[in-house]
Amino acid sequence: MVPVVHIKTWTDKLIYRFFEAPKGLDFACNYYPYEKGSDHMWYERTTKKHLSMLFSRFADKSLPVLDIGCGKGFVLYWLNKLGFSRVDGIECDQAMVAVANRNLAVAGLADQSKVFHVDARAFSGYDDYQVIYMFHPFKERIMRDVVKRLEESLTRAPRQFVVVYFYPVEHRVFDESDLFLLREKHVMYFINTVMDAYYYEFDPAHTARRGGRFRDLLEREMQEGNAK
Ligand SMILES: C[S@@+](CC[C@H](N)C(=O)[O-])C[C@H]1O[C@@H](n2cnc3c(N)ncnc32)[C@H](O)[C@@H]1O
Repeated sequence: MVPVVHIKTWTDKLIYRFFEAPKGLDFACNYYPYEKGSDHMWYERTTKKHLSMLFSRFADKSLPVLDIGCGKGFVLYWLNKLGFSRVDGIECDQAMVAVANRNLAVAGLADQSKVFHVDARAFSGYDDYQVIYMFHPFKERIMRDVVKRLEESLTRAPRQFVVVYFYPVEHRVFDESDLFLLREKHVMYFINTVMDAYYYEFDPAHTARRGGRFRDLLEREMQEGNAK
């Protein structure tokens, strides 16, 4: 049997050739700028279908969204189409930043969405966002630094905050954090392959109102909710 990844790679090449290239767009094809064994993951985009499902839970589309490791900018493009009013991205590979900026210009979104060329560990603008999206962008070592940056941001500027982590290989880093609580697991499929998404939340109002450790409170609530 042909492995699912090969089916996806070939489908993406066809999508690029017949639907994107004629319009001057370039999102679908994978791109591998890193050495084997690198802590950075290669570029592979989230599909339209998965993004639409992942973001259907957000009624408020004015929440500012940041895609950490945005690659060629497909998440920015598609969330704009879904009606989100502010979606930006950060990306550490210069060639992909150039492709993302070209895609946004072709799609008429250059004034709406920004792509920051920076490593997620060094980004200084996290305070401006309330929803973080990640599709397995890097391995544990980098994730630990990035989660620290997010914790610093939430301590400095407490706010409602959701992390949508698709294909959450390094979820342990969030599980170990005192600030983030795993609110929901969403199981999706690509053909016969399971593609999970974990939703982590931080809610300062909840903590202030009820007292106690945010993580413990919500964990208890989840269990009580599940028991009903
Ligand atoms: C699996 S792709 C996801 C692309 C996009 N978020 C999507 O879902 O369509 C991961 C991306 O993370 C980027 N990346 C890896 N390490 C990074 C880092 N330390 N800082 C910023 N971007 C990074 C890669 O270059 C790649 O474009």
